Amino acid sequence: MNLGHPFPRVDPDSSLDIRERDEVYAPSEDSYLLLKAIDVEGASTFLDMGTGTGLIAVHAALRSGTLATDISPFAVHLCRENADLNGVPVKVVRTDLFAALTGKFDVIAFNPPYLPDVGADGWVDSAWSGGPDGNEVILRFLEQAGEHLAPRGRIFLLLSSHNGRSLSRAEELYDVKLLDRRSLFFEEIGVYELKHSRLSSAHKI
Ligand SMILES: C[S@@+](CC[C@H](N)C(=O)[O-])C[C@H]1O[C@@H](n2cnc3c(N)ncnc32)[C@H](O)[C@@H]1O
Repeated sequence: MNLGHPFPRVDPDSSLDIRERDEVYAPSEDSYLLLKAIDVEGASTFLDMGTGTGLIAVHAALRSGTLATDISPFAVHLCRENADLNGVPVKVVRTDLFAALTGKFDVIAFNPPYLPDVGADGWVDSAWSGGPDGNEVILRFLEQAGEHLAPRGRIFLLLSSHNGRSLSRAEELYDVKLLDRRSLFFEEIGVYELKHSRLSSAHKI
């Protein structure tokens, strides 16, 4: 099965300087798998949900108007620093998912906290802790994201093998396609493209 993405538009750019700090999730294999799968073709509005260092937002801002968000004040601060450092315009907002956001986006990217919570504590743990079974934040995201997705918009979402419950819910709410995947030491991670479901509008009573 060919899972390759035909038109990857956002390749890691080694000329960009992305600084890290202890309190913020450092870009990892999941970050780069997501980054490489994102296609910003035709997008004028891009939302990087849970931006962390701002790695994805800074790349997207080279091609599209970009809003970055995070619940962590350290991530918000660091993303602003990295955008300034690289001279790209990124608006950064601190918010719990979509709570402080209005409007719709052509592309939404999210590398969520997806691991089961085993006593998470502090901002850096909230980067990976997705509640008791790893799905709490993703399920909330899936319920809210449709309202903020432009009619022909696309969501690029990273899920791991811990997130079967989230994948099932995504398939109920959206048209879902697996774009890329990778086996890591203790899990498999995949990037999914989600679009508004053709069935949901056709079957509305
Ligand atoms: C796995 S890290 C990904 C960071 C970055 N996007 C990357 O790929 O390297 C998840 C990020 O989501 C943020 N986050 C966790 N819960 C959130 C929420 N409810 N709303 C917004 N951001 C959240 C965390 O603070 C963290 O920065």
